[in-house]
Amino acid sequence: MKNYTVALLGATGAVGEEFLKLMEERDFPFGKLKLLASKRSAGTKLRVKGREYVVEEATAESFAGVQIALFAGGSISETFAPLAVRAGAVVIDNSSTFRMDPKVPLVVPEVNPEAIASHQGIIANPNCSTIIMVLALKPLYDIAKIKRVVVSTYQAVSGGGKEAMAELERQVADIVARRPVTAEILPGASLPKHYQIAFNLIPQIDVFKENDYTKEEMKMIEETKKIMNDPDMAITATTVRVPVYRSHAESVNVEFLHEVSPAAAKKAIAAFPGLLLRDDPAAMEYPMPLFTSGKDAVEVGRLRKDDTVPHGLNFWVCGDQIRKGAALNALQIAEYMIDHEMI
Ligand SMILES: NC(=O)c1ccc[n+]([C@@H]2O[C@H](COP(=O)([O-])OP(=O)(O)OC[C@H]3O[C@@H](n4cnc5c(N)ncnc54)[C@H](OP(=O)(O)O)[C@@H]3O)[C@@H](O)[C@H]2O)c1
Repeated sequence: MKNYTVALLGATGAVGEEFLKLMEERDFPFGKLKLLASKRSAGTKLRVKGREYVVEEATAESFAGVQIALFAGGSISETFAPLAVRAGAVVIDNSSTFRMDPKVPLVVPEVNPEAIASHQGIIANPNCSTIIMVLALKPLYDIAKIKRVVVSTYQAVSGGGKEAMAELERQVADIVARRPVTAEILPGASLPKHYQIAFNLIPQIDVFKENDYTKEEMKMIEETKKIMNDPDMAITATTVRVPVYRSHAESVNVEFLHEVSPAAAKKAIAAFPGLLLRDDPAAMEYPMPLFTSGKDAVEVGRLRKDDTVPHGLNFWVCGDQIRKGAALNALQIAEYMIDHEMI
């Protein structure tokens, strides 16, 4: 196998750190590795596969000779992705910048790998909650096609990056020590108001749109239709931040066009790559963030019939949103391209 020249933009962030762990774990075939971040972190030393790398400030010149550019730096993708493509790299981008661009494939490799072939330099990684949900929906969709989905999310603070994790930790310590609690980051650092997340729930992830849904909710709705290639699928979502460190959970209600028995649904989920069925009510076995954190598999459980509609099921799904919801999914896209000689 060839060794690729790889750049990781956002190497010092929550997703960047996970990329480095996974590249080591999966023995990702890189020869040269460039770790990029902002000026703030330039000079930071990080170890990967036993070697020390110095983080550089990302500039217009950073991508010369790079074949695979992994982006985990947020909105800066807008500036740097076109530069990386011009330098000859394939960009796999974790931000939302290009996801709904019709020229950019939006890919979960277990669900729609065929979309990768149409790329023009940029491939988008879907939103973390979307990835976790579509992975569970796909084997069921293949049995009976989906008419409508109602999803409510329980999203971990690490979804808001390293600063949001630190805020939860600090608030819990302050509450336990009976010190006054302050909030500066959640629901979003750039928003005009902030709320305590420790021992609380915040029903706002990202900004509100004109229809009073949040941007996160609209991402789940629009991205799911694009990935599943079904614009007629009805989806509605409520996204909520919860005081959990890591791993998003989602309660999903699905109405199908045809009958799907819980037994057939469980069998299909258990056989689907990337999914693990953890569903034994008698033994109190169901997915929880503590089980999925740091793991690759997305877990599905609490699967049962919804008798209030003609063909309905309810289930609960949990997945590590920094792994499968971000870094792992992106690396799987790169590995697919390597295996199929697309890079
Ligand atoms: N966290 C999640 O669960 C998750 C899941 C799915 C997708 N995502 C997406 O992944 C991306 C990264 O998220 P994150 O949670 O890892 O964020 P994060 O912890 O805040 O890290 C952000 C990274 O971007 C770098 N960066 C920021 N501004 C920069 C600039 N002007 N130039 C170069 N580098 C810059 C930061 O470098 P410095 O250290 O220099 O500041 C840091 O390495 C976002 O698009 C996010 O929406 C996150």
